[in-house]
Amino acid sequence: MLHFAAFQTLGFLLLFTKALTKLSLGCPQTCTCDQLLVNCSEKHLNNFPLDIPVDTRQLVLAKNIISYLPSVELNFLIDLVYLDLSSNSIHDIEATFINVVRLVYLDLSYNNLSQIDSTTFYLLTSLVVLKLSGNPNLAQIEKNAFTNNTGLRELYLSRTGLTFLDISTVSELPNLRTLDLSFNSWHCYCSMKDFFSWINESNLYFLDAANTTCSVPIEVHGKPLSDMQEEVRQMCISNLYKKDYIFLSLVGFGIFFSGTVAAWIAGVCIVMYNKLCKSEEDDQEDEEEDELATRGKKEGSEVSVHFSARV
Ligand SMILES: *[C@@H]1O[C@H](CO)[C@@H](O)[C@H](O)[C@H]1NC(C)=O
Ligand SMILES: *[C@@H]1O[C@H](CO)[C@@H](O)[C@H](O)[C@H]1NC(C)=O
Ligand SMILES: *[C@@H]1O[C@H](CO)[C@@H](O)[C@H](O)[C@H]1NC(C)=O
Ligand SMILES: *[C@@H]1O[C@H](CO)[C@@H](O)[C@H](O)[C@H]1NC(C)=O
Ligand SMILES: *[C@@H]1O[C@H](CO)[C@@H](O)[C@H](O)[C@H]1NC(C)=O
Repeated sequence: MLHFAAFQTLGFLLLFTKALTKLSLGCPQTCTCDQLLVNCSEKHLNNFPLDIPVDTRQLVLAKNIISYLPSVELNFLIDLVYLDLSSNSIHDIEATFINVVRLVYLDLSYNNLSQIDSTTFYLLTSLVVLKLSGNPNLAQIEKNAFTNNTGLRELYLSRTGLTFLDISTVSELPNLRTLDLSFNSWHCYCSMKDFFSWINESNLYFLDAANTTCSVPIEVHGKPLSDMQEEVRQMCISNLYKKDYIFLSLVGFGIFFSGTVAAWIAGVCIVMYNKLCKSEEDDQEDEEEDELATRGKKEGSEVSVHFSARV
C-alpha cells in the first residue's frame, strides 16, 4: 500500500517535471512568440499545446478546433494575463480556471459553452474583460456567476442562447461599463421588468443597442430592450387589471347577490310584520273610534240640554 503511494507520488513528480520542462521550453513549434506573447492562432490545433512556456503572459489560441481545456496544463501558466480562446469548440469549462488568477482578459467567444455557473469564474478576481458571445447553446448564466469578478468592465453576451438574465447578474458589478446583450432571443415578460428599468436608467454603454431586441411576446417582437420600460409596465399593469377585474366582478356579484337576498328577506319580514301588527292596530283603532263616537254622543246630549235650558 505504502509502496503504491510512493510509486504514485514518484509518478506524479515525474509527470510534473516532465510537464514543467516541456512547459518551460522555448516557443512551441507551430506558434509564433514575441517576448511573453505566444500566438498559436489559426494552426488547426486539435488540442491545447502542452509546451507553452510557463512565464507566458499572453496566449492566443484563436481559430483552432480545440474542444478540451486541460486544467493541469492551463493552470501551470500562473502569470497568464491575456487568454484568447475564441473560435474553437470548447464545451466544458467547469473547474478549469483555478490558478490563472491574474487573468485580466478572457475571450471564450464562438465556442460551444452551454452553462456558466457560480464557480466557473469565481477565482478570476482580476478579470476586466470577459467575452462569451457566439455560444449559441449558452442558455443559462447563474445569477451569481460574476459575483467575484468585481473588476469586470466589459462583458460580452451577444449571440447566445440566452432568453432571460437575472438583473443581479450584471447590475451589481460596480465597475461594469460596457455590456453586449445583442442578437439574443429575449423573452420580454414581466419577469424582465426590473431589467428593462435598469437598462433605461444605468449609465452603461450597451453595444449594438438597436439590435438588442425582444423576441416574444409577438406584440413586442423586434422592439429594443431599452424602449421596453413603458411597454412592459403597461403590459404588467393591464395583466393586474385583468386579474383585478375578475376579482372585482366576483366581489360585485357577491355583494349584489347577498344584497338581493337581504332585500328579499327584509321585504318578507316587513310584509309579515305589517300583517301581524296591522290586525292589532286595527283593533286599537276600532276601540278609539268607538270611544270617540260615544264621547261625541255624550257632548251632543249635553249641548242639547244647554240649548233646551236657554229656550
Ligand atoms: C496572432 O497571429 C495572427 C496570424 O496568425 C494575427 O492575425 C494576430 O493578430 C496575432 N495576434 C496577436 C495578439 O498578436
Ligand atoms: C455542442 O455541444 C452540444 C452539447 O451541449 C453537442 O451536442 C454538440 O454536438 C456540440 N456542437 C459542436 C459543434 O461541437
Ligand atoms: C469568491 O466567491 C466564493 C464563493 O462564491 C468565496 O468563498 C470567495 O471568498 C470569493 N472570493 C475569492 C477571492 O475567491
Ligand atoms: C428611457 O425611457 C424613456 C421613456 O421610455 C426614453 O425616453 C429614454 O430615451 C430612455 N433612456 C434610455 C437611455 O434608453
Ligand atoms: C442592427 O440594427 C440596425 C438598426 O436597427 C439595422 O440597420 C441592422 O440591419 C441590424 N443588424 C443586423 C445584423 O440585423
